[in-house]
Amino acid sequence: MSLIDMPVLVLLTGSTGQLGQELIRSCPANVELVACDRSKLNLSDADACKTIVETYRPDWVLNAGAYTAVDRAEQEPWLANVVNADGPQALALALARHGGQMLQLSTDFVFDGQQGSPYQPHQPVAPLGVYGASKAAGEVQVQRALGDRAHVLRTSWVYGPLGSNFLLTMLRLHQAKVAEEEPLAVVADQVGCPTSTLNLAAACWRLIQRASQEQDAAIQEQQQPSILHWSDAGAASCYDFAVAIGELAVAAGLLQQAAVVKPITTADYPTPARRPSYSLLACSASSAALGLEPQHWREALKDVIAILASA
Ligand SMILES: NC(=O)c1ccc[n+]([C@@H]2O[C@H](COP(=O)([O-])OP(=O)(O)OC[C@H]3O[C@@H](n4cnc5c(N)ncnc54)[C@H](OP(=O)(O)O)[C@@H]3O)[C@@H](O)[C@H]2O)c1
Repeated sequence: MSLIDMPVLVLLTGSTGQLGQELIRSCPANVELVACDRSKLNLSDADACKTIVETYRPDWVLNAGAYTAVDRAEQEPWLANVVNADGPQALALALARHGGQMLQLSTDFVFDGQQGSPYQPHQPVAPLGVYGASKAAGEVQVQRALGDRAHVLRTSWVYGPLGSNFLLTMLRLHQAKVAEEEPLAVVADQVGCPTSTLNLAAACWRLIQRASQEQDAAIQEQQQPSILHWSDAGAASCYDFAVAIGELAVAAGLLQQAAVVKPITTADYPTPARRPSYSLLACSASSAALGLEPQHWREALKDVIAILASA
């Protein structure tokens, strides 16, 4: 049976976020979506998390909501933990009682970046900052509450046509630096992989499709790995990403001119939160499990820039 003919009720958190908005836009026809923004479901309210699951009894909770302010989290660890660990735990415990599965989005920032090769899903986590630690705690809580009905999908460097992200910031900075006749300084010693919300949302819907099919077919042995890694393909430093944004935006007519991008080091641009210097996620197992081939990040970037240029 395909997702097309199998009705599924999905409760989405974080509907105003960049991923949330793309999940709504790309929602498959047979999915009945209950999209929750912060006013409908505040993830820092455990009782509200429990009540909303009891009210809707969804087949799935797709938890795209999160405290994502990586630097601010260092100043308010309590709030980051409440939103990223306690809220997901409350949702998962309610689902455990009422049935249903959960897709919990997580991050490459659960790793410390010291390994120098792509991280496999089963490797131990070692977050460097409060945000990564709170997301790692959320993973554990959801898995503990739901067992094989919990699906953790880690991703990296998310950007898209909407919301607040590196691409939209760099487009503004390219323009500003050209006007100021100044170079645009971007760190070159942090390596990871950009992931477009278009491709990430497609992976989320595919995961829900695959796992729903398995449950529907009463397959006893779990087929989907409990932790999946999903990013676009390839690797880039923040510097590479900023250069590509300038080049592709000029080619698409979105910018008249790109700024000169100057590579700097992390030490030149200190931030309150430490970030992993190398956080590539190994995605081949997830790619096989989902039956999806990741698009190269530069091609994905071209697609998102084309959307912005045509808006
Ligand atoms: N952005 C990245 O580079 C990145 C990288 C790896 C993994 N991830 C993960 O991917 C997922 C989606 O991230 P994103 O980039 O779409 O984030 P985003 O654009 O920052 O959106 C976060 C969403 O969470 C909501 N939210 C924050 N606090 C909340 C609360 N207390 N109660 C209810 N909703 C709350 C926000 O609502 P408001 O609009 O009201 O603030 C927003 O809708 C998250 O799990 C994130 O950890 C992101």
